[in-house]
Amino acid sequence: MKDDQVKELLGRTVAERFVQSGMKLGLGTGSTAVWAIRRIGELLQEGVIDSIVGVATSSQSEVEAHAAGIALRTMNDPEMVAGLDLTIDGADEVDAHGNLTKGGGGALLIEKVVAYASKRVIIIVGQDKLVNHLGLRFPIPVEVVPLARMPVVRTIEELGCEVKLRTAVRKMGAVITDNGNIILDVSLPAPTDIAEFERVLNNIPGVVENGVFSRLAAEIWYGTSEGQVLQFAPRR
Ligand code: 5RP
Repeated sequence: MKDDQVKELLGRTVAERFVQSGMKLGLGTGSTAVWAIRRIGELLQEGVIDSIVGVATSSQSEVEAHAAGIALRTMNDPEMVAGLDLTIDGADEVDAHGNLTKGGGGALLIEKVVAYASKRVIIIVGQDKLVNHLGLRFPIPVEVVPLARMPVVRTIEELGCEVKLRTAVRKMGAVITDNGNIILDVSLPAPTDIAEFERVLNNIPGVVENGVFSRLAAEIWYGTSEGQVLQFAPRR
């Protein structure tokens, strides 16, 4: 199976297995999570499930949810005070302890808000995203207030990391997030205490959020090129 087929299989499978009528859902972002949104839309249309409301984690998932006929709310909606029942999202890397890196699609801030406000989080990834250490192969995205770009770059470089401003495709200059910020992609020089690194990044003035999810007890499901969907057992 090709990567794209694995993504589709993962998204559709977890939507069918875990989404139930009446649920309040967090709708993830990316080329894997989008298949869950689409399948939820089909299940609604087929009458297999009903009374679903969702919170989009990005402009991408908002557009997809509209197309799928999923009613949307925000996290500030009184209906959402008790939190979400389930969030389905992708990730860029997963380490042996179940720590995640997210934000390859630039949506890390709202993805984090939504995930930590969910009773259950299901993360779906291709097997190639299971790694020993985060941030060595795929950089850690850091969302930064535009005015603070240079001080934040300097501070992170002083930590020994390589920092690249994420630039846009078919638009000159920086990627601007759904929240009006920029993204710095940070590569680690060596394996590090990732929970501590998450805290250190968020303590830098001008950093809004970073893409390390180290406190999330997510269920991780991965897809193989043989077409299996398997649960990953992290060493917590
Ligand atoms: C977006 C994300 C995505 O979930 C992550 O980048 C994985 O995306 P894909 O499923 O397209 O590989 O965090 O901000």
